[in-house]
Amino acid sequence: MTSTKQPPSRRGSERRVADRRGSSNSGFSSRRPSIDPSRLVPMDKATHVGGTDNFNVVFIGAGNIMFGSDEGPWNHSFRFEHKLGLRLKVVALIDPATERATAVLQKKCDSFVVSAYQATRVFKTLDDFIKNMSPKDRPRAFVIGSPPMYRGTLQPGRDIEIQIQKHFPGVAMFIEKPIATGDKTEIGQAFDVAKSISESGAICSVGYMLRYLKATQLMKQIIEENNLVVMATVARYACAYEAIAKPDWWDKSKSAGPIVEQGTHFCDLSRYFGGDVDISSVIAHSLEWDENAGHLSKMAIDESKIAPENRIPRVTSATWKYDSGAVGSFTHVATLQGHNYSCELEVHADGYCLKLVNPYVQPVLHVRKPGDDHEQTYTFPDDDPFFSEVSNWIDIIEDIEEDTDAAQILSSYEDACRTYELTWAIREASERSRAQRLAASKAAATLVEEAIAEEDDKE
Ligand SMILES: NC(=O)c1ccc[n+]([C@@H]2O[C@H](COP(=O)([O-])OP(=O)(O)OC[C@H]3O[C@@H](n4cnc5c(N)ncnc54)[C@H](O)[C@@H]3O)[C@@H](O)[C@H]2O)c1
Repeated sequence: MTSTKQPPSRRGSERRVADRRGSSNSGFSSRRPSIDPSRLVPMDKATHVGGTDNFNVVFIGAGNIMFGSDEGPWNHSFRFEHKLGLRLKVVALIDPATERATAVLQKKCDSFVVSAYQATRVFKTLDDFIKNMSPKDRPRAFVIGSPPMYRGTLQPGRDIEIQIQKHFPGVAMFIEKPIATGDKTEIGQAFDVAKSISESGAICSVGYMLRYLKATQLMKQIIEENNLVVMATVARYACAYEAIAKPDWWDKSKSAGPIVEQGTHFCDLSRYFGGDVDISSVIAHSLEWDENAGHLSKMAIDESKIAPENRIPRVTSATWKYDSGAVGSFTHVATLQGHNYSCELEVHADGYCLKLVNPYVQPVLHVRKPGDDHEQTYTFPDDDPFFSEVSNWIDIIEDIEEDTDAAQILSSYEDACRTYELTWAIREASERSRAQRLAASKAAATLVEEAIAEEDDKE
């Protein structure tokens, strides 16, 4: 992580880079998977990485995550510009929607960041870029923000990570969450992709930015310093459904549903504290669109255009056991109107409750400790986890020398596969319990009908 304390310097140490490129769950890091919260600094306080050499990047996807939208604070290009300054050269923007790509580039070229984009070329596919690439355009890194249905598998057209590693072995990749939104039968392929990335030695980070919150890292610090054993995680994610105008988000066949696409952030954060999950232990219930309590009055899309079986649940609530024995629970609701989400995560340990509130908008951490029934409250003005995750990843690619609390990747591809697996297990468990409930009420209705018929026969 770039810090305000000392100007960073570079070193060429294979071992340290290997150590820093994944979380402990992936088995290739000997360091603790956390960062000193004081090292997470906002963009205006960060020291820029020195040097004059170009840092070539290829952006895949010209959408909201890459160039920003009104829906939230995400905008990777903006963070890259600040991190790399004049060194940033976006050599290609790959998006089949070339008009959209050209329009966002024009805006950049009309602004003071023109030097990063004036030579950017737009391509519909990775293959087109490869065919037309000159040696000076060879990228040091790819940022993948295409829709997840086009990645995370071994199948042609949905295997961008494999294609990148085939043509640019070992090149660094930043990949947005969730790692895929394919059918559940394809989860194994995501783990194959993880293996291939790990074997290629690529420095790969997945966009679970909430791990990089200062609040999250303070929670980790409290747990580590007090040798706490997490006993339970309690997560609640309430989204402002009125603000979600993307039809695909409301259609399970397109986005895989709100747990896999959106709740994934909190399933991931739960795992960050609770560890690996016993997937067979997951149980869940849902409130569906066709139940009396499931009516929503302010949807921004026309749900009648979505096939009934693909409409999303309004509420999903799950519990599970972690391998450690701890218990996890997660409730996702699509109930709020307006704009801001309301999300909370509690982590419980002997004598302690760490409660993270509002991580998307203005994170607040409430800490209850032994010896005091009152909570201590911490706020984190100006924290920018989107910048921290990008900044960390670049520092590792650049191999910045720091101490043992230096930058490290908090979400490896393999670890993100485990979050993907958990979110699918929750969706499946809720669908199973719905099917059981429907079968039970159908059986009860049949019994009533038979009883009435019997009565009628007697008369
Ligand atoms: N971390 C966060 O908080 C956060 C926030 C927003 C989006 N995201 C993630 O970012 C990803 C993209 O979301 P978005 O909101 O930018 O979507 P978007 O629809 O705004 O943009 C996606 C872009 O990808 C393009 N595209 C489609 N197929 C492609 C392909 N095969 N190759 C390259 N580009 C292709 C589309 O034309 C579109 O321009 C998703 O995985 C989403 O979950 C994460």
